[in-house]
Amino acid sequence: MQRDIQNIVILTGAGVSAESGVATFRGPDGLWEGHRVEDVATPEAFARDPDLVQKFYDARRAKLRTVEPNAAHRALAKLDAHWPGDLLLVTQNVDDLHERAGSKRLLHMHGELNSAWCLACDERSRFDGVMADDQACPHCQQSGHLRPDIVWFGEMPYQMERIELALAQCDLFVSIGTSGAVYPAAGFVQSARHYGAQTLEMNLDPSEGSFHFHESRKGRAGDLVPDWVAEILRDI
Ligand code: APR
Repeated sequence: MQRDIQNIVILTGAGVSAESGVATFRGPDGLWEGHRVEDVATPEAFARDPDLVQKFYDARRAKLRTVEPNAAHRALAKLDAHWPGDLLLVTQNVDDLHERAGSKRLLHMHGELNSAWCLACDERSRFDGVMADDQACPHCQQSGHLRPDIVWFGEMPYQMERIELALAQCDLFVSIGTSGAVYPAAGFVQSARHYGAQTLEMNLDPSEGSFHFHESRKGRAGDLVPDWVAEILRDI
C-alpha cells in the first residue's frame, strides 16, 4: 500500500456485522431469513402486503437490541478518531453498529432500521419501536403512514452525490464484507480506480468484483480489519 494516502473511503456490507450475529443477505439457499428478497425488500412488496414487510423489519429492529459491535466496527471507529485526512465510511448496513462503536464520519446509503419515514408528512424520525401496529408519526402524529426508512430494490440510495465526490477525491478505497452483488455500491471500486485511488478488499469469500481491486485479503472482518487499521495508523 502506498504511503502518500490522505483521503479514505470505506464501504461496508453485511459481512462486517456477521460476527455480531446479524444475518447476511445472500445465504446459500438464496433466501434472506426465510424470505425471497422480492417479498420483503421492494416497494411492490410493501404495497401488496405491508403487514408482512413491517413485521419483517420490526423483527430485525428488535434483533438490533440484542447485538453488539465487533472488533471490525471498533477498529473502524478507531481509524475515524485518529485519521488526520478526510475519511468517509459508507455503509450498506441498516444496523447501527458502526455508530455504537463510535464512528462519526459515516453515512447509511441504504437507510436505517432505527429511522421511520412518514408517507403522510414526508419527515424521517428516529424510531425504536414496532411499526406493524400503525404507530403514529412522531412528527405529524398521523397513524398508519410510517414505513421503514430502508432503501429497497428499485429505489435510489441516499447521498449518492456526496459519495461520488468522496470517491473522486480519495486516495484509498476499501471495501469490507460485501458480496459486490448490488449496484451502485458494487461499482464504487471502479469509480475510485477511475479517479486514481488504490483499492483494497477484505472479505470472507472473493466478491463478484474481486478482480477490480489492487489487493484482496480473504478472511473474517473481525481479524482482518483491526490488523489493517493498525497497519495504516502506523504509517501516519
Ligand atoms: N467477515 C468478512 N466478510 C464476511 C463475513 C465475515 N465475518 N461473513 C460474511 N462475509 C461476506 C460474505 O462472504 C459476502 O461476500 O460478506 C458478504 C455479504 O454479502 P451480502 O449478504 O450480499 O451483503 P451485502 O453485500 O451487504 O448486500 C448488499 O444488498 O440486499 C441488499 O440492500 C441490501 O445492503 C444490502 C445489499
